Amino acid sequence: MGIHPQFWVFAVAVTILICALQATETAAQLKLGKEKVSNLQFYFHDRVSGQGVTAVEVASAPSTKTSATLFGAVIVMDDPLTEGPEPTSKLVGRAQGLYASASQEELHLLMAVTYVFQAGKFNGSTLAVVGHNAVFKEVREMAIVGGSGKFRLARGYCLAHTHSFDLHSGNAVVHYNVTVIHY
Ligand SMILES: *[C@@H]1O[C@H](CO)[C@@H](O)[C@H](O)[C@H]1NC(C)=O
Ligand SMILES: *[C@@H]1O[C@H](CO)[C@@H](O)[C@H](O)[C@H]1NC(C)=O
Repeated sequence: MGIHPQFWVFAVAVTILICALQATETAAQLKLGKEKVSNLQFYFHDRVSGQGVTAVEVASAPSTKTSATLFGAVIVMDDPLTEGPEPTSKLVGRAQGLYASASQEELHLLMAVTYVFQAGKFNGSTLAVVGHNAVFKEVREMAIVGGSGKFRLARGYCLAHTHSFDLHSGNAVVHYNVTVIHY
């Protein structure tokens, strides 16, 4: 006599229930509260030349200078994040981290940035962003891989859209539209 198929259905149901209870217990232990979705919008100011430089090249390969995509350049930034597109607009935080030219074919950057919020209800909290930035694309999507403070255990995505880019100076203002799931 074989095991009745209903036994397996029962066994799977019990396993799912135990896992669900464990997850609830973990959430309670960590005092996480309810999951919510927040949308944040701000402007990122990257100044590579002129007055008040906020992004500096710290490394490159011997071949970077002759590469059309500046392949191998590594830039560290401490870029202001503001409410509006003007540089004088209210400061909401800073984008601290680095970007590197990571494609030999096109101008594609690897972004590895912490958004450090310094105003509003997320003051003191941070978001960790990592992703592929094809700078000439209309909208670039990057992943939110975590955070701290109010963003502990956060996940989500950012949509970046260039607001203005000065070909002469290389300075850029980028609109960031962030959707984040957090507790
Ligand atoms: C953000 O928090 C810091 C530290 O608590 C505080 O000094 C600062 O005034 C706050 N900034 C704003 C704009 O609320
Ligand atoms: C921001 O992103 C959200 C979700 O991806 C989208 O629904 C919304 O239209 C975007 N807003 C702007 C101003 O880009």
